[in-house]
Formats: sequence, C-alpha cells, structure tokens
Amino acid sequence: MSEKEVTRRSLLRGTTLGILGAAALSASETAAAPSARAVTGPLTLTVDTAHPGHAVSPNLYGVFFEEINYAGVGGLYAELIRNRAFMESSTAPAWWTVVQDRGGSATASLDGDQPLNRTLTRSLRLQVGSAEAGQRVGVSNGGYFGLPVVPGRSYQASFFAKASDGFTGPLTLSLEDAQGRRVYASARVDGLTSEWKRFTTTLQVPPGGKPSTINRFVVGIDQRGGEPADVAPGTSVWLQVVSLFPPTYKNEPNGLRPDMVEKLKALNPTFLRFPGGNYIQGLYDPNDPWGTRFDWKKSIGPIWTRPGHYNASWDYWSDDGLGLYEYLRLAEDLDATPVMVVFDGFSIDRQKIAQGREVVPEADLGPYVQDALDLIEYAIGPVSSAWGARRAADGHPAPFATPLIEIGNEDGARNGSTSYNAYRYAMFYDAIKAKYPQITTIASTNVTSRPMDVIDEHIYSSPTSLEGQAARYDGYDRNGPKVFVGEYAARRGNSQDISTGPLGYSLGEAAFMTGLERNSDIVAMASYAPLFSFVGQTQWGFNMIGFDPLTSYGGVSYYVQQMFARHVGDKVLPVTADGTGLFYSSTIDTATGDVYTKIVNTAGTSQRVNLDFVGSSATTARVQVLSDPDPDASNTLADPARVTPRDLDLRGSGGRFGYEAPANSLSVVTIKR
Ligand code: AHR
Repeated sequence: MSEKEVTRRSLLRGTTLGILGAAALSASETAAAPSARAVTGPLTLTVDTAHPGHAVSPNLYGVFFEEINYAGVGGLYAELIRNRAFMESSTAPAWWTVVQDRGGSATASLDGDQPLNRTLTRSLRLQVGSAEAGQRVGVSNGGYFGLPVVPGRSYQASFFAKASDGFTGPLTLSLEDAQGRRVYASARVDGLTSEWKRFTTTLQVPPGGKPSTINRFVVGIDQRGGEPADVAPGTSVWLQVVSLFPPTYKNEPNGLRPDMVEKLKALNPTFLRFPGGNYIQGLYDPNDPWGTRFDWKKSIGPIWTRPGHYNASWDYWSDDGLGLYEYLRLAEDLDATPVMVVFDGFSIDRQKIAQGREVVPEADLGPYVQDALDLIEYAIGPVSSAWGARRAADGHPAPFATPLIEIGNEDGARNGSTSYNAYRYAMFYDAIKAKYPQITTIASTNVTSRPMDVIDEHIYSSPTSLEGQAARYDGYDRNGPKVFVGEYAARRGNSQDISTGPLGYSLGEAAFMTGLERNSDIVAMASYAPLFSFVGQTQWGFNMIGFDPLTSYGGVSYYVQQMFARHVGDKVLPVTADGTGLFYSSTIDTATGDVYTKIVNTAGTSQRVNLDFVGSSATTARVQVLSDPDPDASNTLADPARVTPRDLDLRGSGGRFGYEAPANSLSVVTIKR
C-alpha cells in the first residue's frame, strides 16, 4: 500500500463516518420525541382480532449485504487464500511469505512478464536458490486474519502453475500450523510445463483434535521426504489464482460459508439488497475516475477472469470472487427477491466535491446506464440474449427472479441531489422503464424529475431517537411512493471497532420496527445494516452478525430481526392502549388465524400488561421473549448466547391474558384468534 493510498484510506474513513453521523442526527431531529415512560400499574393493550386493517407488505423484512467489515472476502465468500491472484499490490506479493526450510533458499516476486491472461497481468515467481534433498522452499498464505482448519474436513485446492525448462514437479501443497510444525494435510501435483496449466487437488484433514485458525497454506518444492527431485538452482515456478475452499453451502462451486448462509436463512428474508451501500460507489481517482466502483462486469465468469478491485469505501481489496452471479445465486438460495443497487455516476468522495468531480457528467453517463440494462439482462434475459447467454455459461440458464433496481446509493448525501434530479435518475429511470417496464425502480433520495416507485431512506440513530421514530411513518402521505428503509440501526458514535451492539440499542431498533410494521401499507421493505462484521476487523459498528474464521454468532439485533420476521402475518391489527410506555404492533395470519403481537419495553423496570384480544376466546398464548436486566448485555464470539430468545407459555381466559413484560425486553405473544 503506498503512502498516498494510506492517506486516502484514512481520510475516507474519517469522512464517511463523519458524514453519516451528521445525516443520522438530522434524521432523528425530525422525529417525534419518545413517549414518556412513567407508567404506574398495569397497562391494557386491546388488540382487535375481528377487524384486520391494511395488508402487511409481503416484502417487509429482508437483508442488506454490503462488502464492508470483510463481510464478503474473508467472510461469507468461502475462499481462504488472501490475494490469490496477486493483483492487490503491484509491488509485492502481499499476504504471501517465502518459506525456506532446512537450508533451502528462494525468492518470491511479482512477475509482470508472465501474466496468466489479459486480466491477471502478473504472477508470483518463486525462484529457487537451493532446494536440495532434505530442504523445502515455497510460499505461504495465512488467509484472512487466520486460516481455519477443521478436523475431518476436505479442502479443495486449485492453482495455475508453469515452470522453467527442466522442472516438471512435484509441487507440494500443505495445510499446516503457522510455524510449519504440524501438518494437517498435504498433497502433491506434478506435470508442470513451461505453459500455464491448472491443477486441482483435495486436502483431507483427518478427524480428531480441535479446529484451529493460526495456520498457513504452503505451496512449494518439498524435498524433506521421499525420493528427491533434481532441482537446479535458478529454477523458477510461476503461480496464479492459488485457491483453497472448505466445504461450501450446498457444495456450490465458488461458494459461501454454510454457517453464515444458514444464519441468513433463519431470518426468513424476503429480499436481498446488494452489494452496497458505499461499496457500489467508490472514490474518484484522476487516473481511473470511477475505477473503484463495483463494476459487475468484472465480477462474473471463471475466477481467473476477475481482476478484483480496491474497495475504496471500506479500505481493503476485494478479489470479486463474490460477484454478481454469486449474489444472485445467494438470493435464490434464500428464496429472496434480488434488490440490485447500480452505480449511477456518483462517488462518495467528499474531497472532490469542491472540484465538482464526484459525479459523472451527463455526456459521459450513457455507458453506466447501459451497464445497468446489461445487468438486468444478465439476471433475467433469455439465453438468446448476449448477457442471458453469459449467465447460462456461468451456470444458470434459467432466469433469476425479477430484481428490483435501486438507482444509486444515498444520492442525497453531499451535493448529489442536484445532478440526481437534473439528469442521473432520469437517464436510468427512462432507460430501465423503456426496456423493462415490469421492473420496480428505487430512488436513493427524493427526486422530482421522474416518478418514484419506491424511495430508500437510511436511518442510523441513537436508540432513543429510533424509539421516537416509531411514529415516523404514521403521517406519511399514503399517495406518495412506497418507502424502503434500506438501512437502519441504532448506533453509537465511536463504535466502529465493535462488531455487534448491546441489548439497549437493539431494543431501540425493535421499537422502531413496531412502527414499520404498523405502517407497512406505505413501508414496503426494510433491512437492518450492516449485516456482517469480522470481529476485530470492523470499519463500522454496530452490525447484525459477528464472525471469525471459524464461527459466527448473531448479535442481539439479529434476534430482534428474527423475532419480527418469523412472526408476521398478512394483515395489521388495530391496537389501542390505555397508557404510554410500551411500543407495540400486532398482525394476523388470516390463513392460520395466528395473531402475533410484539411488545417492546425499553425501560429498566418490568411492566405489567393486560392483553385483551377482542374477537378471540384463546386460553393459551406462546411468548418468545428477549431480555436481560442489563441493557448493556451483548452477544460476543466468546459468549454468543448471552442474550437470546426464550419461550414461555401463558394461560388466560376468553382472549384475556396477564403478562409481565420484563425490563429491557422484546416479547412476541402468539395466540390463535
Ligand atoms: O451501512 C454502512 C454505510 O452506511 C453504507 O455503505 C452507506 O449506504 C451508509 O451510509
């Protein structure tokens, strides 16, 4: 990383957080004050099960994936090798180390004269000084902050290699601890020539022992056992796309981490928004003005045709192994509608605003509009179309589900709205609607030049502000566009190093969500953000799910999301209260008669509640409750189940129940009408 890059990255980090903090504040200032909490005695909630109100939006609860906090590379995307294609740095093979055992000697360098193809324009050259009998030389990679090895698992290794004349192998691959003292699995390949050739093999780790992460993957010439090969000093081996995959979700090729996908599935998401956020936008660079945006066309096809790119928004390299195809496949695996955010010519680079360079000028925007049309064709076009054929070649001849298209991200930030309104939104909107009238588009900020099907609002705020915003949508114009709350969470200003937040913050979100549910005639969709965070490698706090190389856990907010999304009916029920102090909403599944009532008590004392379900004669209720006496309690890698929901049964009569809502709690009460 150059000095310039470091400065630019730190500047951006400060800038991004600063601006978002300001945005969050102004959003909260517009909200009503939280309701008073002083309640004495029981509070009666009357739920009218006989007179359901408006429909609950069928897409109300979804998830938003952004490449932030190593959510993708190093996280959801199961690839274990960091900088597998040597494109991250142009000066050195970043994250790779030379291995020289028992007197062996070698150098490792980047070689621009031996590209694999036109995309991967350099390779790693391992040049042997000495690799005699008893010695080993090679290169090692320690993964993304660790390389997980789990007993009993098999790992798929693959790479391209070529060698100088006279050397045909073997090359030894080994999965071992970081010092090379303990080898978990190894394999040999031979048949190298002076032409690039792809090798694949399996590394089987035997059962027994404990999972570990302080490990490395080594590829090289190992003469420490067996019949030694004749390796002349000066021999060179070139490597490219050195890849190692553990078992993936559904064993999909180029796939995803099963534990993390399972966590998403357990949220019952109805949509998947991707891939950002600021990640889509990138920073303006005079040498390559829009080069750090997410360019989906460079993220498809075999992994050895993907150059990767610098994720300027969040300060790390993405190999783009998690590309458009993988996102669409994930949406399909989750049975969720894809919500694709497209680059619309706006970077997040505040430094460039003064120079007016953060926006693609009108005359130059056409190719980006075409990119969006091509993206839709890739997702749903027939195989007879150019991009539909590419999708088929990538492994999915059938169209994916019809996506929603969001035109840009946070175009209201900085001075984006002027050009958004003047030409950017209109150019995308007109082109998409002309070719794909069936597609719903989403505006990323308020715009008047064209109609808005849906507007995306992002709300990051304090817990108390979110409580106040439970009423935010009560007065929204029902004739206006539908609302997509594409990003929201309770945040603390200085929490960017913390993966998942405490209960008190999650309850602010729960209070806010009762308002989303109650207003789900106008609020069509909502997704918490951000989704994933690599513990200790986080640029943004708080997040929903924390992980390390081996495991993942749901933060308290994860369980809030799950409790809402798993207990939602198709109609909203009217609820009245004879006092204040709680946040609540109720829905009914009209097919089953299940009534779900959410009650949020953000106070530090329990609250007696009389629940009166008018129109029901239920005598039993099931309650799922998430609570802790300490609002600062949170889940962590070490204590992942500190705050998780528990179940209890209530007895009542004639649709009436008494319930003690614990201090700091979210409760979901389920009865039959
Ligand atoms: O969720 C983190 C960031 O917050 C997103 O990238 C951006 O859209 C928002 O400002």
